[in-house]
Amino acid sequence: MTDQTITSVSRESRVFKPSTQFKSQANLGSFASYQRLYRESVNAPERFWGREAKKFLAWRKSFGSVLKWKAPHAKWFSGGRLNVAENCLDRHLAGPRANKAAIIFEGEPGDVRTITYAQLHREVCKFANVLDSLGLKKGDRAAIYLPMVPEAAVAMLACARLGVIHTVIFGGFSSEAIKDRVNDCQAKLVITADGGFRRGKIVELKPNVDRALSATPTVEHVIVLKRTGNEVAMAEGRDRWWHDVMATASTQHKAKAHESETPLFILYTSGSTGKPKGVLHTTAGYLLGVTMSAHYVFDLKESDVYWCTADIGWVTGHSYVVYGPLSCGATVLMYEGAPNQPEPDRFWQIIDRHGVTIFYTAPTAIRSFMRWGDDYVKRHSLRSLRLLGTVGEPINPEAWMWYHELIGKKRCPIVDTWWQTETGCMMVTPIPGAVPTKPGSCTLPFFGVVPKVLDEQGTEVPPNAGGKLFLMQPWPSMLRTLWGDDARYKQQYWSELPGLYFCGDGARKDKDGYLWVVGRIDDVLNVSGHRIGTAEVESALVSHPSVAEAAAVGRPDEIKGSALVCFVTLKTGQAPTDELKEALRNHVGKEIGSLAKPDSIRFAAGLPKTRSGKIMRRILKELAGGGEIKGDTTTLEDFSVLAALKSDDE
Ligand code: PRX
Repeated sequence: MTDQTITSVSRESRVFKPSTQFKSQANLGSFASYQRLYRESVNAPERFWGREAKKFLAWRKSFGSVLKWKAPHAKWFSGGRLNVAENCLDRHLAGPRANKAAIIFEGEPGDVRTITYAQLHREVCKFANVLDSLGLKKGDRAAIYLPMVPEAAVAMLACARLGVIHTVIFGGFSSEAIKDRVNDCQAKLVITADGGFRRGKIVELKPNVDRALSATPTVEHVIVLKRTGNEVAMAEGRDRWWHDVMATASTQHKAKAHESETPLFILYTSGSTGKPKGVLHTTAGYLLGVTMSAHYVFDLKESDVYWCTADIGWVTGHSYVVYGPLSCGATVLMYEGAPNQPEPDRFWQIIDRHGVTIFYTAPTAIRSFMRWGDDYVKRHSLRSLRLLGTVGEPINPEAWMWYHELIGKKRCPIVDTWWQTETGCMMVTPIPGAVPTKPGSCTLPFFGVVPKVLDEQGTEVPPNAGGKLFLMQPWPSMLRTLWGDDARYKQQYWSELPGLYFCGDGARKDKDGYLWVVGRIDDVLNVSGHRIGTAEVESALVSHPSVAEAAAVGRPDEIKGSALVCFVTLKTGQAPTDELKEALRNHVGKEIGSLAKPDSIRFAAGLPKTRSGKIMRRILKELAGGGEIKGDTTTLEDFSVLAALKSDDE
């Protein structure tokens, strides 16, 4: 973290109290009741979670113990049995929710579909029968590589119904990324589509799957959804159309009751080494975390139309497009495409068209809207909105104020929710009817969460001093391990200070106990709200035949948060041309996906290293940011490298 970020943030002193009107209708309407529940949740966690688990979830068999904790491994609600899909669907069918919209879908071309809870239940039952007929069993893995269409939710819920572990792969990832993930979890099935619509074009998903599957021996079947109607190759005996297999599937499916710790999904996320980490979430604890946080933080009511703009490929799409809101019986809006298609006001159009009441998006999107101009917003009323949220990275106070004034018309509370793929649900966030907000702060902890800002020795730092952010107690929706690599799980999250969860972020707490997250402290960048491991980009670069060595660093960027700058040393005899720069950008795009394409590539004769051969990224970061090299350079092995880098202006 830099001093600059800390000082600029601490000038922010505005406080926004929940309005009387919001409080009077809120699911949690006073600071005192938040404090009372919070205190209980951390002082008597077993009593608290035991009671809430019974209140928020439908159990087939009640649990015996609430928590078995042998650091760093947790077992929540042992002995209990339940089914996630039953909680998200079947339990809503007994009353008026049966014919309420579960999903309102808008495709990028403008097609709209409304799917009720009863209809969604039927589709999920049918797809569960399809999976069953293909021989998928509890514990098997299935990869989902789909656009943002309702069938993505159907596929996830059908897997959950059977106890098949899904791994959703973001549709923007490349065939290499599919191959790595499918092989890591040894998936038997891939569910994909002929394509999806994005920015007026077709995203070709199936060819990526086909390329990946030439090197994935475990995959037996591929199911292909027809979305765009463009031509795709179908491998005889392996590939089947979604509509064909669904045509004859029965709508009857009896959900099995699964043990609380049954694995639910694996979601791969970037770490500071080259290989993505397969974060494993399980059944009961995860479902409780996302259900309860959706209820309190989104203040969900029967009449809400709730829209989270995240793609299903990220954890936000899992927790707050599918599992959390559906478990609460909410109406979820799902939009397939880009925010500026056909015009930069598409989101505001959607809000007015469908009467969206709750809107949850990312700071990077908000900064894009600001850049596109207020006029696009002012064309629309946005009268239906009552609550706004953000997630994915720190929100700068200017963007917060713009969101508050232009989108929320000063009437909607903003929930700035801090959490991670690993935490499963929101960890630090205001509860909108209870907790006053400050622009740029994710405020106070959610129930059961004990965040502390510690120094290297594990001592809590004084108010407003920066440090590393730790979570001091286990929580129900925490990751259980990294798929197939428990040693890395321990090393990555629990070894910084033994027994405490280290999230990789730097933060400070102000005098009111409000948290201000300042960003990652490891070699992971946050680009447009998505984590990108610099090591992954580097290993993609060095896999290009012209590249000898590469270092990727972040440069502050107004829209994206961080821009990706790569320093590249070429092999002898390779010419440093602009064409090669473009080729390298595309190469990273092909290896990882376009979200990881470097914003800028700088050729360098050598990279600054320590005597032990470690690349000094701090120096490269300062160079990339266009600043002076301020820090200590005495450990630098070869000073001429630095001089050459400085003179090599882009
Ligand atoms: O650095 C924090 C940042 O995003 C990281 C988690 O990334 P990921 O696992 O991809 O999940 C993103 C969606 C939950 C965190 O370690 N981050 C996320 N939300 C916030 C945030 N930083 C500041 N404020 C937030 N509200």
